[in-house]
Amino acid sequence: MTDSLPVTTYGCTVGKLWRNLVMKIQVKEGRIARVKDEIIMVGIFEGKDAIKGAARAVDTATAGIITEIIQRGDFKGELYKTFLIHKTQKIGVRRVLLVGLGQAKDCTIDKVRGAASYGARFIRDMGIKHFIAPGSFAQLSEISNAEVIKAVLEGISLGLYTFKEYKTKKDGSPDKVIDGFTILVESNKEYVAIQDAAKASEILSRAVYLVRDLVSRPANSATPAFLARTAQTIAKNHRLECRVLGMEQIKKLGMGCFLGVAQGSREPAKFIVLEHKPRKTVRRDTIVLIGKAITFDSGGISLKPALGMDRMKDDMSGGAAVIGIMQAVAELGIPLHVVGLVPATENLPDGAALKPGDIITSLSGKTVEIITTDAEGRLILADALTYASRYQPAAIIDLATLTGACVIALGNDVAGVMGTNDGLIEKIKQASAITGEKVWQLPLWDEYGELLKSDIADIKNAGGRDAGAITGGFFLKEFAGKLPWVHMDIAGPVWTEKDKPYIPKGATGFGVRLIVNLLENWKKDRKGK
Ligand code: BES
Ligand code: MN
Ligand code: ZN
Repeated sequence: MTDSLPVTTYGCTVGKLWRNLVMKIQVKEGRIARVKDEIIMVGIFEGKDAIKGAARAVDTATAGIITEIIQRGDFKGELYKTFLIHKTQKIGVRRVLLVGLGQAKDCTIDKVRGAASYGARFIRDMGIKHFIAPGSFAQLSEISNAEVIKAVLEGISLGLYTFKEYKTKKDGSPDKVIDGFTILVESNKEYVAIQDAAKASEILSRAVYLVRDLVSRPANSATPAFLARTAQTIAKNHRLECRVLGMEQIKKLGMGCFLGVAQGSREPAKFIVLEHKPRKTVRRDTIVLIGKAITFDSGGISLKPALGMDRMKDDMSGGAAVIGIMQAVAELGIPLHVVGLVPATENLPDGAALKPGDIITSLSGKTVEIITTDAEGRLILADALTYASRYQPAAIIDLATLTGACVIALGNDVAGVMGTNDGLIEKIKQASAITGEKVWQLPLWDEYGELLKSDIADIKNAGGRDAGAITGGFFLKEFAGKLPWVHMDIAGPVWTEKDKPYIPKGATGFGVRLIVNLLENWKKDRKGK
């Protein structure tokens, strides 16, 4: 431990690429009792042993101020509840914010994310610009300090997200925004590990910001061309390779399904390819990520009902996630060959649009009878899956807001997963448990294939109301063939109508943290086998 305070190790920005909001995150080493700032937030458990870690340090330095509050019953440490100590003595920070963590035995890493977010939002809403988040905000048995710090940093960054791009008038009061925060670590033992963890979390948070921004943007801004330009900018800034196929190339390649969806729209479709090649030349596994990017889904000729159609601007959430993931993969220098494929188009009705009953020929050569033009996501993914085979991938994962049926089955917080490779599904489940992005597996038994049999073509694009999420997946399986592939139906969790602990109302950025975690742990898992 040192007394010299504070040592700035690095500063970084969140969301800088896409807007003016710049939040400076620093990791510093120093003593909680000595550090100077407007406010510090510390976690408090419910029940016995309420005061641990940072809270203990504050309590000791202030001759038991927190002990007194708890003994009086003013604050009980209930999960996500807050209590402000507006004036302090004997320590360098002016105020202390207590944030409830609930019962210690029930506390999870996801609750730490949530609590950190609640604390940060409380501080922002007070109009304070900067705060201290101690590395020992929450001390959990069985979870390392570095993991907790990651969760604290992510919770704060993700919870403070806002999208104000289209607001021209301020409401009179000065904008309450956090300029930055400092993660304060008291011991230099784990300093390097903590610094690395913080950097990784910052990269991840920035990728999630990017995805939320893209999804929040309306369809008249976030067009296929806009997504392509975004991908190109990211590629340039982070040393990725980027190719964008336009309408001519899409036609020439024979992507009849993708083209079929694109032909009813004035905005030209783009097939975006982002490629991360790891520095070392050793042969690495190739992972292909595919993201559905329907920048607006009207349903096409099979027009959707008007009510809630505005939400269909988020039908590019899978594609946005893949772009965000690729940025994070490049910045983290993940030692895998990762390819991101993003077929991007609108789904609109016009004189040239695809019609129910039409038969189109996919890139694979299979013919598809169109039952409804609203089952368009699987069409563009089918051609992307065929395209993916050229990379001889060790794994393909697609992320797609594919069916309303998946939302009916699993609700708004959970993605459906299904595929042809149990090992890959297991990896997704593991990453899900760590990141708190929930998934649930659905079966792809052969019997479901009956529902997609066409009398006149090789397959039809919709199988009616029964097992809607599964028949969507089953259609994709026909195009994945023998490749190790998993489909994630993210129609539910990409958007939230209410604030969640560290996800503000609106676009969630679902999938980024899960997939990046999976890629980070790819090799570790393999060695274990
Ligand atoms: N993008 C929608 C799925 C969707 C619906 C996502 C509601 C989020 C909320 C997709 O293209 C679609 O329209 N799917 C149809 C498939 C059906 C026609 C077989 C659906 O879910 O109704
Ligand atoms: Mn649709
Ligand atoms: Zn759609």
